[in-house]
Amino acid sequence: MRRIVYEGRIRERGQVQLLPPRPFCVIKMCMERTLISETPQHIGTMVLLKGWLVSIRDHGGVSFFTMRDATGIVQVVVTKALRAQYPLLSEWSTVALTGQITERPEKLRNPAMPTGSIEVQAQAIEVLSVAQPLPLPIDSEGYEITEDLRLRYRYLDLRRERIQRNLKTRQQMQDIVRESLRAQRFYEIETPLLTKSTPEGARDFVVPSRLQPGTFYALPQSPQQYKQLLMVAGFERYFQFARCLRDEDLRADRVLEFTQLDLEMSFTTREEVMALNEALLIHLVKTLFPQKHIQELPFPCIDYADAMKLYKTDRPDIRKDKNDPNLLAFCWVVNFPFFEKTDEGGWTFTHNPFSEPLPEHKKDLLAKKNIEHILTTQYDIVLNGSEIGGGSIRAHEPHTLHTVFEIMGFKKDRIQEQFGHMLEAFTYGPPPHGGIAWGFDRLVAMLMNEPSIREVIALPTGGSGKTAIMDAPSPIDPQQLKELKLSIVHEKKRSSKKKPTKRS
Ligand code: AMO
Repeated sequence: MRRIVYEGRIRERGQVQLLPPRPFCVIKMCMERTLISETPQHIGTMVLLKGWLVSIRDHGGVSFFTMRDATGIVQVVVTKALRAQYPLLSEWSTVALTGQITERPEKLRNPAMPTGSIEVQAQAIEVLSVAQPLPLPIDSEGYEITEDLRLRYRYLDLRRERIQRNLKTRQQMQDIVRESLRAQRFYEIETPLLTKSTPEGARDFVVPSRLQPGTFYALPQSPQQYKQLLMVAGFERYFQFARCLRDEDLRADRVLEFTQLDLEMSFTTREEVMALNEALLIHLVKTLFPQKHIQELPFPCIDYADAMKLYKTDRPDIRKDKNDPNLLAFCWVVNFPFFEKTDEGGWTFTHNPFSEPLPEHKKDLLAKKNIEHILTTQYDIVLNGSEIGGGSIRAHEPHTLHTVFEIMGFKKDRIQEQFGHMLEAFTYGPPPHGGIAWGFDRLVAMLMNEPSIREVIALPTGGSGKTAIMDAPSPIDPQQLKELKLSIVHEKKRSSKKKPTKRS
């Protein structure tokens, strides 16, 4: 067991930490805090900084601390006498520190550091919290550390510069999207997390109801139905950074809980939705990633049949130079088959049951004829071989939607039970509408050249489905089970058979 001595006290790893003793309060708390990024503007003045000590280097007569807050890092010079008051100060402790900002001599400036032309001459230090040695290195890129360790200590892993940069860029991307969509008459509206189980392609996460024992909510795989109902409600244009939950097998570009940029538009066309999204993607890239270049503008639009013939996939990687990390090859894929055969010989949807078929195929759909040749209005947006989004024009007439479910072999009662609310809503003047959802995490990961979407999500689920830090799923209290009127059946042998999922 490692022991840390601080200010004369011995602490053991894992013990509850007491705040370090503060023999005297040296910092005048009436002073306003200066953010580290602002320090170069205050040469010659006394400032109060608060943050973490990320490195401590003692050089005989003088010590150098690197101090960090959320806005940057700065070098602090500490005299031998002041340093002697805190002989066992550890890295990553938090401190309040007063000091004079001075210009560094010309030859000691660090042009790579935004505050590299100055340093802070510390006058007084107050220790706010003490850090034990960290259980994982955070001064590296972190790819070499196991995912288990990184996610267990994700709050420390998040201190890593790379991850901080990813999350800051993610937020800038969200800001740009919000600003742009709001300027184009979109409303940002939240939709429920407790909702109804509907077949959408993946498995649902379900939540037992206490008030109505034996019944369950489902967590949304996407806000698909709600956003369509918002179109019936007359908002005309909706968007949301929506949390989506899908109980599916995990991969580098797939997690249980992810974020979509979800949008829907009324009185629109396939071409209008595609053009608006294309312009938004170009705007994002040009504003935040000027080093990147888009291979072809406008984005090429490839028929599903051609993609399958030429690239053997519906997510073609059309990059001309796969070694160029700054090349972005976007393309649209359109004209997908609406239905595909199930193992049992029936039909199921390929992408989205709420879609409208192409106009020239509507007659066949309504007549339930030539089903394998019916094409949907679905459009997928692909970037460097990865599907980063997809959407369609929707069926807004109740009988069209009803027929889709009939083709899929659903009986009248089941259609009514599962989709009666949509069919009824569509009897009250629904506008024709269509939309799209981007896999937002995927897009951020690709633009940041990250190999996994977990690198751009603050608190992702791990590869084994465990949540970061909290280690869920975990058993619940027997009392909770009792309240929910649930009992756990322990099966002797578990079947390893998995239902294939449709969504990507
Ligand atoms: P879809 O199911 O294609 O469409 O989802 C849209 C986009 O979400 C991303 N995505 C995922 N990202 C991370 N982890 C996952 N498990 C995961 N699953 C999907 C993909 C995908 O392109 N309601 C429709 C959209 C619409 O028609 O408007 C939908 O959800 O990048």
